[in-house]
Parts: sequence; structure tokens; C-alpha cells
Amino acid sequence: MPMSRRRFCTQSMAALSLAALSKKRALAEALGSTGLGDLYRGDFLIGTAVSNRTLETQDRGMLDLIAREFSAVTAENCMKWGQVHPEAGRWEWELPDRLVRFASGHGMYLLGHTLVWHSQTARDLFQAPSGGGRISRDDLLRKMEEHIRTLVGRYKGKVAAWDVVNEAVDEDKGWRRSPWLEILGPEFLERGFHWAHEVDPAARLLYNDYNMHNPGKARFVAEFVRDFKKRGVPIHGVGMQAHVMLDSPTIAELEASIRLFADAGVQVHITELDVDVLPGREGSATSEISTRVGYSAELNPWPDGLPAEMERRLARRYEELFRLFLKYRDRIDRVTTWGTSDDETWKNNFPVPGRTNYPLLFDRKKQPKGAYRAVAALKNSG
Ligand code: XIL
Repeated sequence: MPMSRRRFCTQSMAALSLAALSKKRALAEALGSTGLGDLYRGDFLIGTAVSNRTLETQDRGMLDLIAREFSAVTAENCMKWGQVHPEAGRWEWELPDRLVRFASGHGMYLLGHTLVWHSQTARDLFQAPSGGGRISRDDLLRKMEEHIRTLVGRYKGKVAAWDVVNEAVDEDKGWRRSPWLEILGPEFLERGFHWAHEVDPAARLLYNDYNMHNPGKARFVAEFVRDFKKRGVPIHGVGMQAHVMLDSPTIAELEASIRLFADAGVQVHITELDVDVLPGREGSATSEISTRVGYSAELNPWPDGLPAEMERRLARRYEELFRLFLKYRDRIDRVTTWGTSDDETWKNNFPVPGRTNYPLLFDRKKQPKGAYRAVAALKNSG
């Protein structure tokens, strides 16, 4: 068991005062070395997504910040099919290898995202190898198996958990009509879980989706999870992406889904948390990746900084979310924000391109925001 934070602080402060530092300085030192990951160590992992830019430029400042503050990392893009395996026979290992080295080097929990998804795939994934027309069922199964065996195999023992299948369920309508479903039927999910498990039996395997507060969607997911467990399909967790707004979904809606998944016998991971503070228009309250809403100035009201009142609302929102997560700390393994600082969030370009959004815990200068302090304070005061 890691030493409790209180003891850690007491001990480091004592050591510092021995070194004749002022009390104030000692406190700052002790707190400075205590990132969110440490504060929440006894509760759940605290993660972030690592962008391609950070990996390409090997951005020291960002990597140091991540190592200090977080205990888990997710590949934001570099392990997606279209990036790591852009065409049959071609693998791009450079960025994922860097991420794996970084996570191993810092003893961080690494999330592989994602093995099977309908978006950001290789261009030719669903085409017949002979060219023209759709790929056959057998050929797609072969491709899928080879992809999973190669990727999971390369990082066996290094990736702690995989988002095996991403976004296979529609809002209130059951399975999403993706090429995966059309060509293979719902069986593609369990195939994915079995192959990943065969290659790395120690890896935790998750189903991940957005809008998991939607009761119809959540019930459908909980049902197939139960069915998988009954039939011995190796699934260990459900990922709730949690791309949320300031006042929706409600805490009660999120809570109901956490309970549903926990009751279905799996752990819950909050996998892609961010809080969109910008005004919406029809379609903009979704994380459906194909949604596009045109830019207009009224949808981008704060290009030069978030007003103080909005900062406070954002902090209160993060606080209520983390209070909820703490309430279910036994059922929640990890809470991951989808990026670290506001300059790099996908929310600057989704679903409206070219906006200035403020959904994360660190600002554009990589400084902790009020939202960060609110999340930290829940532990500091406890
Ligand atoms: C997003 C990335 O953040 C963007 O950089 C990329 O352009 C598109 O995908 N759900 C998911 C993530 O599971 O993979 C998506 O990530 C966000 C929605």
C-alpha cells in the first residue's frame, strides 16, 4: 500500500524543516510534488490522453507535466487503426513505441485506444483485397484477427488495458449500423475480446462509448456485458467517455449508468472526460464523430479568455463530477481527461472548427485552473 498522502506530507515537511526551510516553503514543496495522481492514489487512477503532437515533438514541458500530475495515459490517436496500421502490411510504430516507453519509464498505467472502431480506420479496411466492392466476411475477420494479434502482441505486458471496441452502440437503437456490424454482425465484438485476451491474458479489456448516461444506451450495454460474462467472453470494464457539458448530463443520470455497469459485474472507467463550456446549437451536444456544425462567432464567444464566472462554473462542474466518482471509488478504476491543457483539446475543433474552448484542467500556458484546484481540494480537505 503506498504511503497515505497525509503521512507523505507530514514526512516531507518534517524533512524540509530539518533542512531549515521556512514552514511556508516546506508546505509548497510538499504540495508541489503531489500531483492529482498521488492525491487520488487510494481512490482511482487519474489519466490523460497523450496527443500525437506531444509524441512527435517530444514536448518536454508537457511530458513532465503529465508525469507529475497523472498516473495513467491513453493514446489519443496513435494506436487507432488508421494511424498504426494505415494499410495492409504497413505498421507505424514510432509514436506508439514512444508512448509505451514513456509510460513504462514512469510506471504509468497505459491504455491502448482502440482496437475496433468504425472511425479513423485504414482507408481500405472494408474494401475487398482484389479492389472494388466490399470485403467478405472471412477476409474482414482475418484482417481483424491479424490486427489485434499484432498490436496487442507487440505491447503485451506494457499496455495495461485496451479499449477493445469503441462506439458500437447507437442512441436507443441497439447496435450501430457500422460496416463492422453490416459485414460481421454483432459477433465482431466478442471475437475482438477473445483474440485480445488470448494474446495478453493479463490486460484488462473494455467496451468504450459516449453518451453512456442515455438510459436506453446504458441498458443495452449493460445487457450485452452481462451476456458476455455469462458466456465467458473476457470483458472487464466499461468505459464511459464522458464528453460532457456544464449542466448536462445531470449527476443523477451519470450515477444511474455507473450503477448499471457496476451491477452488470464490471469495473467502470471514465475514459475521455472533458467539459464543453461553449454555447451549443443543434447537434453540438454530441460526441458523434461524424457531426459537423459550421463556425459562427456567436458559437465562439470567448476567444480571448474565459470570464471569471464561467471559470467558477467549470470548477463547480468538475467538483460535482469528482464527488460522484469518489462516491463510487470501489467501482471506478480510472478517471481520464481527454487531454491535458486547453490549447490541445479536440474540443477546439469539434463539433465546430476553429473555436477557443476551455474543457480541461490546465490552461493554455499549462497552468492549473480553478477546476484543477477544485478537484485537488476534494482530497486536500478530506
Ligand atoms: C478524437 C481525438 O481527440 C482527435 O484528435 C481526433 O481528430 C478525433 O478523435 N471519442 C473517441 C476518441 O473515442 O478517440 C475521439 O478522439 C473523441 C471521441
